Amino acid sequence: MKIARVKLSDRAAAGVYPDASGPEIERIVADAFLEPIEWVRVLLPDDRSQLVATLRRLVDEEHCSIVLTAGGTGPSARDFTPEATRAVLEKELPGFGEVMRLTSYAKVKTAILSRATAGVRGHSLIINLPGNPKAVGECLPLLLPAIAEALDHIAGFRPKLRA
Ligand code: MTE
Repeated sequence: MKIARVKLSDRAAAGVYPDASGPEIERIVADAFLEPIEWVRVLLPDDRSQLVATLRRLVDEEHCSIVLTAGGTGPSARDFTPEATRAVLEKELPGFGEVMRLTSYAKVKTAILSRATAGVRGHSLIINLPGNPKAVGECLPLLLPAIAEALDHIAGFRPKLRA
């Protein structure tokens, strides 16, 4: 199964600090699925047009079954991830963002500020995750059963989840 993770952060892309959410995404996904995973790793500044082009490439040319973005979902001037994602989606799946906000809200009231979304392009699933590695750890595990089910519908295979 080919999966891309795309970190959006001006400072991480400039080398000010390392991307900590990417390794957290890989750990959670690799622990969850029985299938071997081929990872495509991307680190981008908070730039809308670069993200649009990257999402198109990862789906249309690299044929990643899942594209997980991390960061850029908040209200700041350079947070563009949901807009770039919507620009490439054929169908939006708002439930992913709704569940992340609802569950995170029980822990941190600022979860309201995340505008994360998800959806389908071709045979691929694109999901926005928060940029904070702790928030990734709280949100991503909740999404795994729906990710497996969505792939069954859009890609014709269902990755097996570890019991
Ligand atoms: N969700 C969880 N679980 N934990 C958090 O600390 N931070 C919130 C929200 N969701 C947070 C969270 C805050 S402060 C913001 S601004 C948004 O996620 C957007 O974060 P992002 O721009 O890194 O995606």
